[in-house]
Amino acid sequence: MKKLIIANWKLNPTTLKEAQKLATAINRTKKNTVVLCPPTIYLSQVQYPLVGSQDCFWEEKGAFTGQVSPLQLKSLKIKYSIIGHSEMRGIGESDEMVNAKAKAALSHGITPVICVGFGTTVEQDDLEVTDVLKQQLDMDLKNVNASKVVVAYEPVWAIGTGKVASPEHAETVGIFIKNRYGVKKVLYGGSVNPTNAKGFLDQRNVDGLLVGGASLIPSYFNEIINM
Ligand code: PGA
Repeated sequence: MKKLIIANWKLNPTTLKEAQKLATAINRTKKNTVVLCPPTIYLSQVQYPLVGSQDCFWEEKGAFTGQVSPLQLKSLKIKYSIIGHSEMRGIGESDEMVNAKAKAALSHGITPVICVGFGTTVEQDDLEVTDVLKQQLDMDLKNVNASKVVVAYEPVWAIGTGKVASPEHAETVGIFIKNRYGVKKVLYGGSVNPTNAKGFLDQRNVDGLLVGGASLIPSYFNEIINM
């Protein structure tokens, strides 16, 4: 079964040339479905079979300085949008905003990749974690066709820290999200690297990975996407 592996480049790299070089260095593998999410400014100039955006605004057009509209993304054939990343929630993105963005993306044929896990801590047990996720997803998925979205579970303490959740915990969370909301695909993200990726990919209810730091190193990312 193919997994969905999404590269989140965040605010990297700092030149278009480097971004294009990075995309060229990533294998066009058939083993998994691979999506590259470069910074918005490079979206039209990064060549890869599947390209995604790191955000999608809820309005189509108008007086909204600095935003990127679902229609603009659609015109570039963007198929996936990361929405509600911890780094956006950390600067004020609310669940209401995530919900509006997810609806806008879906209405234009873009699959939202809704990130949850902001506010979780390493000490929490499975039940405490799912309580946090419930608060986010009850609103994020309000009046949304959940079978059409991807949810990425990213415990915030694992993002960019080198600390990773256990594959068994990710599996438990995957089952919870699918059963409660009817979501079909749940990804794990947070310090994924070539050494720990297989443990997650082997889980039946972890349908793929959202990879940050390791997606900027072609040898690492190629190893992950060819597993
Ligand atoms: P990381 O980031 O792989 O560098 O931990 C993941 C993410 O924030 O999506």
